[in-house]
Amino acid sequence: MEVYNENVLKDGQKLIIRNVSEDDAQGLIDLLKTVDDETKFLAREPGEFCFTLEQEKEFIKGMMNADNNILFIGEIDGTIVANCSVGIVTNNKRYLHRAAMGISVRKKYWSKGIGRLLMNECINWCKEKGVEQLELEVVTENSRAISMYEKFGFEKYGTKKHALKYSDGTYADEYYMILFLE
Ligand SMILES: CC(C)(COP(=O)(O)OP(=O)(O)OC[C@H]1O[C@@H](n2cnc3c(N)ncnc32)[C@H](O)[C@@H]1OP(=O)(O)O)[C@@H](O)C(=O)NCCC(=O)NCCS
Repeated sequence: MEVYNENVLKDGQKLIIRNVSEDDAQGLIDLLKTVDDETKFLAREPGEFCFTLEQEKEFIKGMMNADNNILFIGEIDGTIVANCSVGIVTNNKRYLHRAAMGISVRKKYWSKGIGRLLMNECINWCKEKGVEQLELEVVTENSRAISMYEKFGFEKYGTKKHALKYSDGTYADEYYMILFLE
């Protein structure tokens, strides 16, 4: 397992940022279920994530063996508190300059600098891979995430109308955002 970074947060807690490993399967399931409950800005309805332990292990193995994707884990005192995944959009040669990313942090740990630290790793990985542009979509109401992305230099370049439809029948739009890397 590769540790990328160890950081002391504002409140003194130690955050380890590392590559995912198979042993993380249960911790990752717990994280994903929790964040789906805690925010309406992610891709799934509460309770919708239903990978078994075996399926999650297979998914992690795939990530670990892939050259063009990586899943970073943020861990505090042995608990997975955040994840950030980034990967080349497709392996066709014409797309190798583009990567897309996703990030989530447990609510209890918001505003401690964890998102920013994971974004740094994600951007460093892109630069090492020669990625020229990092792309994402974000719900237009997700001001916290948008503010973070804009601080990293991401720009909005369009809006996907009704990108999400919630179980109560309402919709959310998403901004397309892009960061051009040096
Ligand atoms: C968006 C998210 C990843 C930010 O993670 P975080 O660990 O709270 O972020 P940080 O503490 O590193 O803060 C990074 C930036 O976020 C913004 N931010 C943090 N707390 C904020 C708050 N209370 N109000 C507004 N913006 C805030 C700020 O721009 C901040 O930059 P600063 O530290 O220079 O002020 C986290 O809130 C999250 O997981 N949200 C739910 C899932 C999600 O929305 N993911 C993104 C989907 S596109």
